[in-house]
Amino acid sequence: MKKLIEIIAEDVKEAFSACGYKEEFGVVSLSNRPDLCQYQCNGAMAAAKQYKTAPIEIAKAVAEQLSGSETIAEVNAVMPGFINMKVNEEFLAVYLQEMSEQDDCGFEKAKQPLTIIVDYGGPNVAKPLHIGHLRSAVIGESVKRICRFAGHRVIGDVHLGDLGLQMGLVIEGLREKAPKLPYFDESYTGEYPKEPPFSLAELEEIYPAASALSKQNAEFKERAQRTTLQFQQGNRAYCALWRHIMNVSVPDLRRNYDKLNVTFDVWKGESDVQPYIPDMVNDLIAQGLAHESQGATVVDVQEESDTKEIPPCIVRKSDGGALYATSDLATILEREKLYAPNRYIYLADKRQEMHFTQVFRVARKAGFVEQGTELTFLGFGTMNGKDGKPFKTRDGGVMRLEQLIADTNGEVLKKVRENREIAEEEAEEIAGTVALAAIKYGDLSNQAAKDYIFDLERFASFEGNTGPYILYTMVRIKSILAKYHAGNTGKKPVAINAVIREYGADEIALMLLAARFNDVIEHAYEETAPHKICQYVYELADAFSSFYHNNKIIAEPDEVKQGEWISLITLVLRLLEICIDLLGFSAPDRM
Ligand code: ARG
Repeated sequence: MKKLIEIIAEDVKEAFSACGYKEEFGVVSLSNRPDLCQYQCNGAMAAAKQYKTAPIEIAKAVAEQLSGSETIAEVNAVMPGFINMKVNEEFLAVYLQEMSEQDDCGFEKAKQPLTIIVDYGGPNVAKPLHIGHLRSAVIGESVKRICRFAGHRVIGDVHLGDLGLQMGLVIEGLREKAPKLPYFDESYTGEYPKEPPFSLAELEEIYPAASALSKQNAEFKERAQRTTLQFQQGNRAYCALWRHIMNVSVPDLRRNYDKLNVTFDVWKGESDVQPYIPDMVNDLIAQGLAHESQGATVVDVQEESDTKEIPPCIVRKSDGGALYATSDLATILEREKLYAPNRYIYLADKRQEMHFTQVFRVARKAGFVEQGTELTFLGFGTMNGKDGKPFKTRDGGVMRLEQLIADTNGEVLKKVRENREIAEEEAEEIAGTVALAAIKYGDLSNQAAKDYIFDLERFASFEGNTGPYILYTMVRIKSILAKYHAGNTGKKPVAINAVIREYGADEIALMLLAARFNDVIEHAYEETAPHKICQYVYELADAFSSFYHNNKIIAEPDEVKQGEWISLITLVLRLLEICIDLLGFSAPDRM
């Protein structure tokens, strides 16, 4: 469906034109004074300059012209030249009724679907998921869902970190622990064991120990670097160990992402694109883009218009090894071959911005992507604790994602139990659903690039701008609908526009918000901004709450009016359901 604001703008444009002014002045925006009007047009001020007429005269003429409009009920020209408008309520009711009859509540899918890669998650194997991985997973999942809802073909790729130094560290860490394993016997030529030489718990200890050791012991660090290189070059023993690491680590990663309701279409990693690397580097050299610099192979990416220094992108280390940028470039080559995407969206900590600037520039210069391909880096800020510093456990360690989810579950469970008598099993199930909303909404309601404070009590609260509050509102609507439909009263919901009548202010506010749905989703997609959807669901939930407090829906004696209300809140519930699904969580039936 056309956006409501667009339909109104069309009328305003036509009126400008009928009055002899260019229609481009008829731009309409939401009013920033909702107490005075719902929509406004400030075009008369701009037109005044061009036509050398007083803005108020233009505004008056346009307002006069609009007085016959079917979409705009009230229009006022106000000094110095604003045009203030209110929508025709009957027209609004018809619009909402049409929304409720359409798929996706009237949101129009993209006419030309794009192929979009969303690269998110990005965990490094052999390390447990910790809270540093939360934002990429949560924001990426939402971005993926928004793009898909907008009608595009979307491929979510976890892009495992499975090629870099952490591999060498784990292998060398294991050598320290168990030097007798056949993987470390250079004369060994037999088959390597099928069983991994470590459990998940052991693997998770090896990495931090090795990482700590490499910081104190230069010899160990060098050894890990050498091993990383040998692994990248296909060393048989190290590749066998790599497979064990993957077999132990990846199922655990999957399990953790499942808990977050985050799913990837593709589980590829840096190591998958290793075969592309030698040819790619040769190609960069042959194109005259890459050159030697202090033994390494680099591509200059500085551009004249840059206001700060953009260092060259290193594509091969002096020892011949691959770097982070190397694997990202090779990944682009593979993705071009497999999917030919029109658009790439990368989620990573915003401190990686320089890396992505370099990679994108090399990819463009070298013609790895087509001219029109969009390369987007969505950098996110840090999740901090209440002290404003990166979130830590009580004893100062890095908190595991599992722990964060468990803590949130616990907090929510208390509230669910306070709220009502409830069987333990159901309480736990509800708490799981609500906790996910608490965590995800707490994250997504902030603009991605901003840091935010993880405040468990606030996030888990059933009141205020929180995930649980949104769910609570939805549960309330569900319960009204259940009551209405319960028993065979013979009452039926009617169309939202069944009769022409007076509407209350709260009702109109709710109707106007519901009608904004397609507009909001379009902006969230275009700006890759899930927080816009959070803002909207909060306003919508709040508008419903005011409406609910001022009207006794179930006790309403006028059956037609009641039937209209039921249809309206059914639509509101559907809108909320679509929105929270785009944010990556769902609502229970009661809480
Ligand atoms: N593994 C990386 C990290 O831990 C994140 C990967 C982001 N995606 C990418 N294509 N570079 O920081």
